[in-house]
Amino acid sequence: MRNLPYKNTNKILIQEKIKLDFGIQKVRWEDIMIITTPGKSTSKIVGRAKKLANSYGLPYKERHGVSIQTMKNEYRDDIVIVENNRIVISPLNSEKEMFYHPNLALIRAKRIMNEGKGGQEPLISIAKLKEGMSFLDCTLGLASDSIIASLIVGPTGKVTGIEGNQLLYFLTHVGLATFTSGIEGFDAALRRIDVIHQEHLNYLRECKTDSFDVVYLDPMFNKSIDTSDGINIIREEAWRTDFSDELIQEAKRVARARVVLKDDWKSTRFARFGFTQYKRKSSSFHYGILEV
Ligand SMILES: C[S@@+](CC[C@H](N)C(=O)[O-])C[C@H]1O[C@@H](n2cnc3c(N)ncnc32)[C@H](O)[C@@H]1O
Repeated sequence: MRNLPYKNTNKILIQEKIKLDFGIQKVRWEDIMIITTPGKSTSKIVGRAKKLANSYGLPYKERHGVSIQTMKNEYRDDIVIVENNRIVISPLNSEKEMFYHPNLALIRAKRIMNEGKGGQEPLISIAKLKEGMSFLDCTLGLASDSIIASLIVGPTGKVTGIEGNQLLYFLTHVGLATFTSGIEGFDAALRRIDVIHQEHLNYLRECKTDSFDVVYLDPMFNKSIDTSDGINIIREEAWRTDFSDELIQEAKRVARARVVLKDDWKSTRFARFGFTQYKRKSSSFHYGILEV
């Protein structure tokens, strides 16, 4: 936990069922970020920033024309900048800025929409996703895979995504609630995803047996393997979790049909945990399945 420069601030703020502009449903904070505006901003942006701060129970700080670095020096925390059309995060210990964009998911989704349900999308065929199914994504990241799942399972299905890192959770939670592509079906798929800020093993332990059709795991690969832009944006923040026997046992217990693993094609996790590995000649990552 970082030392905060201000006193009397609850480090753990729990907000239930807040539904303001950002469609926030359930938020739990164990650390604090600062919300501010760009150096030059309109009263509309200030209003949005304050509303976002209020929705998430985060402190709003006036920018007063100072640089983001000056704010980081003062507050010793990550800074969220509410811009006109997007929300940017400047992590305390990084010069890189992060903002939400569905990146590849939009390209993948367009292909599916043009070619009919399924298209050439391996996640769908391997996880055997169909309308009405439920999908638990234990490693949400920027939700590219969850968006594809949401598109397929549709309004009668359910997609829940778990993200442990607070910044990534925030980015994806806000992004899925607000990003607009102009493609109705795509935007609706984003809005349907339930985003949860938790450590995935703890979440699985609390789930009822057989509560999701598919449980999905997509851990971070080694640096040399991850090439997509989205992953590069989150690389510095993303958690790298070792898989335990208990994690896979719990995933199997919670999955009604199958557990799906996406991993480096050389990963030993496929064999170690008994996944059937589907090899894809030209791809640096493979999928594995555990039917339950
Ligand atoms: C490779 S990324 C997932 C990318 C995602 N499939 C997508 O399509 O954007 C892995 C994500 O899982 C998260 N993660 C890793 N270990 C976790 C854990 N134990 N609990 C919750 N999230 C975790 C990381 O922070 C990271 O955001």
